[in-house]
Amino acid sequence: MTIRIDYTNMMATSVKGGISPDQWEDAVAQFGTIRRGVGDRRQRGELGFLDLTDGGTVLPEIRKFADGIGQAFSDVVLLGIGGSALGPIALRSALRPPNWNELDDEAREYFPRLHVVENVDPVTIMSLLDRLELGRTLFLVISKSGGTAETMAQYLIVRGRLETELGEKAVGHLVFITDPHQGALRRIAEADGIATLAVPPNVGGRFSVLSAVGLLPAALIGVDVEALLEGAAEMKVRCEAESLAENPAGVFAALEWLGDTQLGLHTHVFMPYADPLRGLALWFVQLWAESLGKIRPDGTSVGPTPLAALGATDQHSQVQLFMEGPRDKTVAFVHVAEPAVDVEIPPLHADIPELAYLGGKLLGGLLDAERRATAAALAQRGRPNLTITLDALDAHHFGGLLMLLEIATVFAGEWYGVNPLDQPGVELGKRYTYALMGREDAEAARREWDDIPVPTQRSVV
Ligand code: PA5
Repeated sequence: MTIRIDYTNMMATSVKGGISPDQWEDAVAQFGTIRRGVGDRRQRGELGFLDLTDGGTVLPEIRKFADGIGQAFSDVVLLGIGGSALGPIALRSALRPPNWNELDDEAREYFPRLHVVENVDPVTIMSLLDRLELGRTLFLVISKSGGTAETMAQYLIVRGRLETELGEKAVGHLVFITDPHQGALRRIAEADGIATLAVPPNVGGRFSVLSAVGLLPAALIGVDVEALLEGAAEMKVRCEAESLAENPAGVFAALEWLGDTQLGLHTHVFMPYADPLRGLALWFVQLWAESLGKIRPDGTSVGPTPLAALGATDQHSQVQLFMEGPRDKTVAFVHVAEPAVDVEIPPLHADIPELAYLGGKLLGGLLDAERRATAAALAQRGRPNLTITLDALDAHHFGGLLMLLEIATVFAGEWYGVNPLDQPGVELGKRYTYALMGREDAEAARREWDDIPVPTQRSVV
């Protein structure tokens, strides 16, 4: 497996206003301390995602289910939100053909369709439920905590429908992926005999893509999950390197952290030049934002703002801003060296210059030329950027890339001086939601809500 990070265009030696040799040397010198901080977290058992690569006992269970009962269904519907949905979406879009759910059975090699319901918008969920044949549908209810309001509401709607249509057979159409001991889902599963897979207690939502959260849906649609884990395991070893220069996750974290804190490049654009990696960009945005946007122990707020973009599409949308807008961004391109498919552009209209130069060239060559041109143009304008290159987009490389970015997030957490594994900032909004929806144990939140002074209302119609 080869995954390379080319960071020439991040450095002042090639881009005006880039990272200076002294700044880079400081980061290199600090890396020992950063590694020790991460090592301490690992010792304390906080970094459970690093232990997922051996598959543990869950992989044989997944394999058995996915190859057996799982194939009796034409449709799999995943109910979840945040880390419980974004990882599976990224896996489906990267490792299965485009428009998977629209392909016929033969094109899907008789694997089921995979729908992900990641919101509580009634329009979406009702339109999906109305067109599914419930007797041939499996619902994966994924919630690490086992009690997230959105996922529980989705589950209640689905269970109600299943019971109305299938009666006692309803439970055979449900699998829960949740904490091994706690939470409402675990209690329901035990009471009703619903099949479950466990998410290790020390693996949080946004770091759970290589647990049953990502592996079961991926295996059900025919992704080679063993290769995914092997790629991740290989990358984990590479990211143990002591020297920053040899540690891909360390390099990525150091560059982005230096960009943000030393150069004022607070927005971190993540821009694959490959349609199948659009889901990865959204997954990365959650990982980077929820892990690093924090209040530090000294009371200061820190954290970069990640932004997803897609090349070449967003060259006609966002790149103008990246090129000439505020000089406050880094851009991380992701490039697949050997795309799975390519096509020659026919040499038609040889007499029209605007089209003639395209004839006989590969479409993938055009996409790649656009990426190289954009990177060089950004560098010319003093806009630092880096490129992650995967030799190929397969399960092995993708597993490696997921692991690289997860470990980079933990390294970045050390550099920022925050705990990348928690998300205290989302709690207050959740408590107010419980108060508004009348959750029984939310009395205190209800009082807090009632005490918020009502501001002078301003609106325009
Ligand atoms: O990364 C996280 O921990 C969160 O984004 C969670 O994934 C999200 O809040 C959903 O939580 P849960 O899986 O407990 O339902």
